[in-house]
Amino acid sequence: MNQKRIILDTDPGIDDSLAILLALASPEISLEGLSVVHGNSSTEQGTLNALSVLELAKANHIPVYQGCDLPLVQPSLLAPETHGEQGIGYAKLSAPQTKPKAQKGSDFLIEKIMSAPKEITLVCIGPLTNVALALRQEPRIVENVKEVFIMGGAIRHEGNTTPLAEFNTYVDPHATHIVYHSEMPITLTPLDVTYQCIFLKDDLNRLLKINSPITKFIADATRFYMEFHDEYQKIDGCVINDPMTLALTFMPEICDYRELFVDVDISTGVGLGNTFADFYNYNKKAANMKVALGVRPRVFMELFLERMEKLARAASFS
Ligand code: BDR
Ligand code: CA
Repeated sequence: MNQKRIILDTDPGIDDSLAILLALASPEISLEGLSVVHGNSSTEQGTLNALSVLELAKANHIPVYQGCDLPLVQPSLLAPETHGEQGIGYAKLSAPQTKPKAQKGSDFLIEKIMSAPKEITLVCIGPLTNVALALRQEPRIVENVKEVFIMGGAIRHEGNTTPLAEFNTYVDPHATHIVYHSEMPITLTPLDVTYQCIFLKDDLNRLLKINSPITKFIADATRFYMEFHDEYQKIDGCVINDPMTLALTFMPEICDYRELFVDVDISTGVGLGNTFADFYNYNKKAANMKVALGVRPRVFMELFLERMEKLARAASFS
């Protein structure tokens, strides 16, 4: 099988951790490294989480690079209420034995993409600071990256951080602006599709039939995430945005797409971080990305559950 060579730029994060596990469980993917960014937790904590999750799945050969710890312009905004103080809900993972690599996250992105022209697929599931820095430092990554999948934005959907803005976008709207205007081949997974796809308690109970450190981790992490969704959004279950974004790299048929010109509001005010698409092409601008706007929720969820079961069985206690 011709595997997709993937780099994950991530802020682990409960659903980021699930995306890492999905990547490891998917034979369609060769996960070649992780760059960590601030977001759900600090970059330092997120890096520890990334290393611990890789160790949990016996994949500590995958290199982790620590990236930027602050947005480009905005003050830092972390999300302990959504992901817990350590970024992984109620889960407790052992301190990682492995260390992050010395190279900075954005330098790793540049080196990896430039050394394998048109071969690397970049999957961005946190604020876009590392990617924006990489673009400014080495603009030629635009022509050399194969594809870029981004979890972010709320096109017709309400925001999950302000009434108008989605978290990854709101945390670093200026980085988002650089990335959206870069002319890289982007596929966007906004809240419009991720919020159609809820990980239910029944889904968790199905996974818990397997007695494994993986299912225990998923249960302890998502229990916190479900409490957050219940308290703040009256959602029964939790929205696992990041693994869906990862899944689209090898199973695009989960979603339906429109080619659109999408921009982000970077003016100071209530619209900061709002993402909007020019559906009627008022501005006569060429589309700058493919946007997922329709979704088959249970197709994704079935894939996710099957893959987690496979990973869990491989690591089961008995
Ligand atoms: C995004 O923000 C974070 O809370 C999640 O990890 C996801 O990447 C959803 O808005
Ligand atoms: Ca994330």
